[in-house]
Amino acid sequence: MKLQNIQRAVREHLYFAVSYEQDLFYIGKIKKFEGEDILMKFLEKSAGHIISSTTAKMAENLEMHELPNTASEESLISQQHFGPIDVCVVVTVISAVLYYLFFRKKKEINTFQITPNHVTTSDSSFINKMKSTGRNVIVFYGSQTGTAEEFATRLAKEANRYGMKAMVADPEDYDMEDLCKVPEIENSLVIFCMATYGEGDPTDNAQEFYQWLQTGDGDLSGLNFAVFGLGNKTYEHYNSMAIYVDKRVEELGGARVFELGLGDDDANIEEDFITWKERFWSAVCEHFHIETLGEDINLRQYELKVHEDLPEGKIFTGEISRLNSYKNQRPPYDLKNPFLSTVTVNRELYTGPRSCMHIELDIADSRIRYDTGDHVAIYPTNDSGLVEKLGKLLNADLDTVFSLNNLDEDSTKKHPFPCPTTYRTALLHYVDITSIPRTHVLKEISEYATNEEEKKMLKSMATSSEEGKKLYLSWVVKNCRSIIHILEDLPSLKPPIDHLLELLPRLQARYYSISSSPKMHQTSIHITAVLVEYETPTKRITRGVATGWLKTLKPGDKVPIFVRRSQFRLPSKPHIPIIMIGPGTGLAPFRGFLQERSFQKKEGKEVGDSILYFGCRKSKEDFLYEDELKVFEEEGTLTKLHAAFSRDQPEKLYVTHLLNANKDELWRVFGESHGHIYVCGDARNMAKDVHVIILEIVQEYGKKTKDEAEAYIKKMESQRRYSADVWS
Ligand SMILES: Cc1cc2nc3c(=O)[nH]c(=O)nc-3n(C[C@H](O)[C@H](O)[C@H](O)COP(=O)(O)OP(=O)(O)OC[C@H]3O[C@@H](n4cnc5c(N)ncnc54)[C@H](O)[C@@H]3O)c2cc1C
Ligand SMILES: Cc1cc2nc3c(=O)[nH]c(=O)nc-3n(C[C@H](O)[C@H](O)[C@H](O)COP(=O)(O)O)c2cc1C
Repeated sequence: MKLQNIQRAVREHLYFAVSYEQDLFYIGKIKKFEGEDILMKFLEKSAGHIISSTTAKMAENLEMHELPNTASEESLISQQHFGPIDVCVVVTVISAVLYYLFFRKKKEINTFQITPNHVTTSDSSFINKMKSTGRNVIVFYGSQTGTAEEFATRLAKEANRYGMKAMVADPEDYDMEDLCKVPEIENSLVIFCMATYGEGDPTDNAQEFYQWLQTGDGDLSGLNFAVFGLGNKTYEHYNSMAIYVDKRVEELGGARVFELGLGDDDANIEEDFITWKERFWSAVCEHFHIETLGEDINLRQYELKVHEDLPEGKIFTGEISRLNSYKNQRPPYDLKNPFLSTVTVNRELYTGPRSCMHIELDIADSRIRYDTGDHVAIYPTNDSGLVEKLGKLLNADLDTVFSLNNLDEDSTKKHPFPCPTTYRTALLHYVDITSIPRTHVLKEISEYATNEEEKKMLKSMATSSEEGKKLYLSWVVKNCRSIIHILEDLPSLKPPIDHLLELLPRLQARYYSISSSPKMHQTSIHITAVLVEYETPTKRITRGVATGWLKTLKPGDKVPIFVRRSQFRLPSKPHIPIIMIGPGTGLAPFRGFLQERSFQKKEGKEVGDSILYFGCRKSKEDFLYEDELKVFEEEGTLTKLHAAFSRDQPEKLYVTHLLNANKDELWRVFGESHGHIYVCGDARNMAKDVHVIILEIVQEYGKKTKDEAEAYIKKMESQRRYSADVWS
């Protein structure tokens, strides 16, 4: 079993793992290399060599966790610490492994007389799948939270209308070099729906594809393609992944069938998408000389199966991937295998009308490790009152046990979410019932409205006509109408629950900047989360899914979590001064930074200046961790606290005002003393304004032109001396 796992890992890519003090502390992946088969045979024949000893731990993990995916590797990495000694050990062992693989290869060939294996490509070859199932369109998606995947699925469905047969594909599941072979299929087309993250980075599932595009020189001549990008204008690197894919595929010889489309999630990405795809399909028809359109019918992707007598142990109860994984918890914990942590503290931090929670989650015995500045992801549960209400609106028996099975047997995705399960569990844990539904959902459920006016209205909102778009924007988007609100307001609309479950997006994990340091809290993770609560224009009080749920939790309650490694890191040398800019919950990671620096100080290390810019509305209501910050100030860890209370005086005062007033000090710290700047919190306004101020300071004090100052800041960013951990 172990050996097979190693072989599977090697066949996929080459994995290397290093163990240290009984603990796996690094597992990584290096590019495919020529001698995979040879190494596989070698593993089969040898034991106790460097490879098998370094991979032994890895095999254990694989055994526990089945074949790893990128996310699990990442979380393995994320659960580990790296100090300078660790880095040396890693470098040494990796060098040894690489030496062994690349320079000793020939010897192994002689010793074991290995003849090359024929690598079976059936699983990872999308081209074989396309050919054997008569498909001529493939839609790849780079998606983290499901939107790009959903858009890809919609495009694939719509291809039917134009007499084409399409499949949706996760680039992580396939060998992307096969792109070179797509032109072998007549009238073929490749569509990419690509989201951008971080600093213009690909999503987890598109990492390898991105790497291949960057390093590969595949010939894509004759490949018909089009790209739709998903991004958000509040981020500096707007849609950069889609822009790159569009440019690079063309450079490699691809023929663009239609111009790059860019969706902005800060405005209305749904509208951007439907406007783009309308024009895209026209261009496709022209390109492939498609004259007649098929019927615009709604096709179900999944079929319903109701189970009568399934035993309890066979029914999913909210697990993300593995059946009974919450009962039999097994590390490593990641996106697909979250750890069920216990709430030990849930304390209110505000005194005013709003709410901000300080929550402590126990990770003792989980083998989860984190670093100061990392993020923790939380899988929330939908409000049970809303679930019951939805059940009534749909006339559904929520205890029914069912499965939704993909009608496309070739698809790698067998169910839209873990099945079999009950309707109640699906609504509580698996689908998003509170966000604003996209237009294709309205279009598909419109068939179930018995009132003609209601049906017409739903259909109209799903068209790309100006009138339809306006109606969708005003009636759904501006009024923040969720699917529940729509069903309440259109009483003749009664879609079957299984069809609705097929259409609603998956409920996503929410990320939080960890507000503790493992140096002080090795066995717990702290978060600082502000409750999302607002009244919609139709007078409905609405709470955020995760924060609304967290608000109800008491010590002893369980929360599924995993840790995600971030790039937001304190300088490796504690004497380097830092400036932290974190209004509101942007303070969260800086509480961890201060805990870490306080610990280092107590250890007798020389710790540099730590200057904090914090902002909130009123000093008496929402001054987060005021007491703790005072202690940090008294002990000298927090050298200076600049606080802006926007509503404590007639004129508004924000952190940006304080930054403008302290340009001398800022330049002294980051310009003259090579200190680090950190920004955390609101991406929409604050982080952008801070960037402008820093740019001005570099121009003014560093005596640089605007272009030179931009380059200076870029260099700071690349040296990780200017880091942002922002969200919108
Ligand atoms: C890397 C990262 C780190 C983060 N760190 C933190 C952190 O430390 N602390 C923290 O509190 N949050 C943090 N967040 C945000 C967090 O992940 C959640 O987005 C947030 O808690 C809301 O989640 P929710 O499920 O409660 O709300 P959701 O159910 O997701 O609802 C939020 C949505 O409600 C709508 N909405 C909100 N207010 C209004 C309004 N007034 N009118 C109309 N619509 C409205 C908006 O569409 C908004 O997108 C972070 C996010 C990221 C990506
Ligand atoms: C933490 C975070 C970072 C993001 N970074 C970027 C970015 O750098 N550039 C960009 O254009 N969009 C960025 N986005 C926006 C997403 O790309 C956008 O919301 C997209 O629709 C997500 O698609 P998905 O649901 O398929 O993952 C970011 C979103 C989040 C939550």
